[in-house]
Amino acid sequence: MKRSIIALAFAVLLFPLQSMGQAKLKVGLMLPYSGTYAALGDAIEKGFRLYLAEQGGRIAGREVEFVKLDDESDPAKATDNANKLVKRDNVDVLVGTVHSGVAMAMAKVAKDNGTLLIIPNAGAVAVTGPMCAENIFRSSFSNWQPGYAMGEVAAKRGAKKVVTITWKYAAGDESVGGFKESFEKAGGQVVKELSLPFPNVEFQPLLTEIAAIKPDAVYTFFAGGGAVKFVKDYAAAGLKDKIPLYGAGFITDGTLEAQGADAQGLLTTLHYGDGLDVPKDKTFRAAYAKAYGAQPDVYAVQGYDAAQMLAIGLNAAGGDVSKKAEIAKAIVAAKIDSPRGTFTIGANHNPVQDMYLRQVVGKDNKVIGVATPALADPGRGCKM
Ligand code: PHB
Repeated sequence: MKRSIIALAFAVLLFPLQSMGQAKLKVGLMLPYSGTYAALGDAIEKGFRLYLAEQGGRIAGREVEFVKLDDESDPAKATDNANKLVKRDNVDVLVGTVHSGVAMAMAKVAKDNGTLLIIPNAGAVAVTGPMCAENIFRSSFSNWQPGYAMGEVAAKRGAKKVVTITWKYAAGDESVGGFKESFEKAGGQVVKELSLPFPNVEFQPLLTEIAAIKPDAVYTFFAGGGAVKFVKDYAAAGLKDKIPLYGAGFITDGTLEAQGADAQGLLTTLHYGDGLDVPKDKTFRAAYAKAYGAQPDVYAVQGYDAAQMLAIGLNAAGGDVSKKAEIAKAIVAAKIDSPRGTFTIGANHNPVQDMYLRQVVGKDNKVIGVATPALADPGRGCKM
């Protein structure tokens, strides 16, 4: 009797300690679940959850709990939305988002509050440039990277005069900036930069302008629903067989089902593609197909790798999100075993990775070569 009372007392005493040690890890998932980028947010979450499921639902021993928020890809609501997750919901880590304008607001909130932030898509150059911070990481790319790789490809393929067309916001501007940098270094010239506000899809007047200019090629950044429509409109305007369309790979990623014949043959550059000879990709694809009954795209890979990076950082910090130096040290030292191929994280916390050249064949973005190996974002203005 006495013994069992003592045991009970111990159990009562120990229980809160144990549950404290095992406190759930609250992950704030701030992604677009509506609008032109909705499918991208969904793929990122699926990738993230797949990695987590492979770890038995735990990161650094802590069970994961999600708080989800639809950011609508709306920069005007982004600061309030990120603050809600950090201050009201007390998340331990922020994971998001797709849209660069929203991501910049998230980075500011993360910086001001010291919250760990992992960006599973948005390529905003500023986030790993002037705004870079010990607690901010990206598992995806900088907008500059695919653009820079494609500028070299376009020049090598003999283009001299190119027109660019994109949405007028950070992602479009920076993608075009990367393209222009390498293309003009190689002797080419961007003769006209066309744009329309995000997320508009009234492409017709701009396509008419392209037809009148008759450049050697067109470089484009669009993604999600807007990318589907742009590729279809480009073909419908009769431009597909006349003026080669080159793009950052988002123009044909996760979109081929809807684009069909209008996308066939398009050349793009990106850090992922179909037919990679990467063992990790084969197991990832099989697991993704089994879990969701669909093939993964670049966004799913970035979500998966965001979860991997979080695990690498938190494992090194014993699950303690406040140990920012330990987390950063482990992530920067890691070789990340990604479906895209192994990559590392540079000093500015952006992936250093191969940029593949891909061509659309059927429903695949078939990898036909490496456009630029181990490409690092220059991290201009980043002081850490
Ligand atoms: C961005 O806003 O940075 C962005 C959005 C969608 C993409 C790529 C980049 O597919």
